[in-house]
Amino acid sequence: MPLYHKQGKIPQKRHTIFKKPDGTLHYEQLFGTIGFDGMSSLMYHLHRPTQIKEVGASIDISPKAAVEHNIKSRLLKGFQVQPVDDYLESRVTVLFNNDVHVGLAAPKKSMTTYFYKNTDADELLFIHKGTGTLKTMLGEIPFEYGDYLVIPRGMIYQIHFDTEENRLLVTESYHPIYTPKRYRNYFGQHLEHSPFCERDFKLPENLQSFDEKGEFLMKVKKQGQLHHLTYATHPFDVVGWDGYNFPYGFSIHNFEPITGRVHQPPPVHQTFETSAFVVCSFVPRMYDYHPQSIPAPYNHSNIDSDEVLYYVDGDFMSRKSIDQGYISLHPAGIPHGPHPGTYEASIGKIKTEELAVMIDTFKPLKLTQAALDIDDGKYYKSWME
Ligand SMILES: [Fe+2]
Repeated sequence: MPLYHKQGKIPQKRHTIFKKPDGTLHYEQLFGTIGFDGMSSLMYHLHRPTQIKEVGASIDISPKAAVEHNIKSRLLKGFQVQPVDDYLESRVTVLFNNDVHVGLAAPKKSMTTYFYKNTDADELLFIHKGTGTLKTMLGEIPFEYGDYLVIPRGMIYQIHFDTEENRLLVTESYHPIYTPKRYRNYFGQHLEHSPFCERDFKLPENLQSFDEKGEFLMKVKKQGQLHHLTYATHPFDVVGWDGYNFPYGFSIHNFEPITGRVHQPPPVHQTFETSAFVVCSFVPRMYDYHPQSIPAPYNHSNIDSDEVLYYVDGDFMSRKSIDQGYISLHPAGIPHGPHPGTYEASIGKIKTEELAVMIDTFKPLKLTQAALDIDDGKYYKSWME
């Protein structure tokens, strides 16, 4: 996040004496990315953050390919993924490659008995249903329907839900997730043409510091394994921090659509970028206003991108038989486009209420068995007249 933020108490000068009320020192920790070259935060702990009491079991949670080489367009019925009590167990990876894992989750319970950090990947959670609070070592972010939560790798968190009705789209990125470079100036500030700006971000707040010793279960995802570690002190013991590396939220409802006289290409919807995929937000908007315009997209070949569309709400004008929580996958190598009749039907329409999240990956995606279990199996033929 190219934005300076701070919470709690910090010393006036970095790397200097910063005492607790009892006269002992706080423990400073630099939490950086890309070695010492990327964004970082400096945090101050009550206890040494290095105190690991025990290393327990390691569980392989890496996704397994059921379809390694996919050439079919697919339609996955996302809400068929069953609700599960535990947050981590509820996360079901459906599509993946070495850069990104895309999953669905319907967790029923809050995380209260353990803490979690993903050291493999930045996480991008999209909240389709549910409200709650993302609790992290750097503060809390309340979330609701339509929020993206960007959690940089290594950030210790718990997620608390207000009810049991929750649906999440979970994207794990093996490359840092940023807002698009072309939206930002030399200094990192979002420019006037950006569809959102700093004011729209939900930053961590309400930092709470727990001065507790004991046994704290930390589930650490690394190299596709879920390692079970026991920390000797409460992981949320930071009394203050500042810097640029922190989790944040952004509501899809705050994405201001860019429209034109004729059909605008997907990059106008771009919300996040990585070196291996992009994320776009399709939001309610006015259609094209050239008198001869065709609002539906033209047929197109993502010759070097697999296109994943997650349907959130509203009518998706270029598709038939689409429901909430569905995922369409249009693989690289073959063209796709509007369904028969929708191209013509879009003419003269003045606005759309569609809400969808798109993930375009630069390398092909594999499918897991969980994806095949919710695949409609016939979508690839749905353009036949
Ligand atoms: Fe497309």
